[in-house]
Amino acid sequence: MRLLPLPELTGGLWVEVDAEAVAVRVADRLLASLTAGQTLGLATGRTMVAVYAALRQRLMAMPSGQRRQLVNRWRSFNLDEYVGLGPDDQGSFAHFMGEQLANPLELPSGSLRIPNGLALDPALEARAYAQALALAGGVDLQVLGLGNNGHIGFNEPPCPIDARCRCLVLSAATRLQNAMAFGGHPEAVPARAITLGTAEILAAREVLLVVTGAAKAEILKRCLLEPPQAALPASWLRRHPRFCLVIDEEAASELRI
Ligand code: GLP
Repeated sequence: MRLLPLPELTGGLWVEVDAEAVAVRVADRLLASLTAGQTLGLATGRTMVAVYAALRQRLMAMPSGQRRQLVNRWRSFNLDEYVGLGPDDQGSFAHFMGEQLANPLELPSGSLRIPNGLALDPALEARAYAQALALAGGVDLQVLGLGNNGHIGFNEPPCPIDARCRCLVLSAATRLQNAMAFGGHPEAVPARAITLGTAEILAAREVLLVVTGAAKAEILKRCLLEPPQAALPASWLRRHPRFCLVIDEEAASELRI
């Protein structure tokens, strides 16, 4: 398959045959990062389910001593969390991360960080979370999914390039996209969230955008080919010196020559 030239992909482009192959590629990258003792920036969403399954599989296949070594040095910061939800809520990202990684891998408590959705003052929590991230030295490898409206984390359009970690109101489009985790009811999706901003995302040493499926082909094309702009938050990634894209053939379908 020949693709349009994408000169701003400073970290490289991988087009894999399907979502499973994408997941394996990203899991291997995460594993290399963990092995090097790096701090990970983690995302949630359906795209990440396959990625975390592949990562678990890699880790569980290791001799237990080697796995323990890696797990004990785990350091990660998640992108975002819904306001009003805690780890006991099925729809929370804290619950998702517990199921996907923290519980099966028995991660030491406190090693997988995520904004506290139950904080009484979410704006204060956002500032404290950004501070904790800065104190830890920032993120080395930031993994990202793509929202149907071009959001990254929960940075909803319009979003400037330098938005900071904050509490914000979610768009109707995003609540619809994420309704599956809330019994299919968009109105059951919390109205607000805390998210790392484009500023913190772009401050990571490397960013890796993961996109699978035909439904994202059009928005991906816009984010890669239209001028970087607030209406397409993911388009700001093209300003990053190490922006890497891993996609499957379906997501790449609008990028063919
Ligand atoms: C949520 C998360 C985003 C993620 C997006 C993609 O909105 N906040 O970080 O990129 O989901 O979701 P999916 O992979 O389910 O399409």
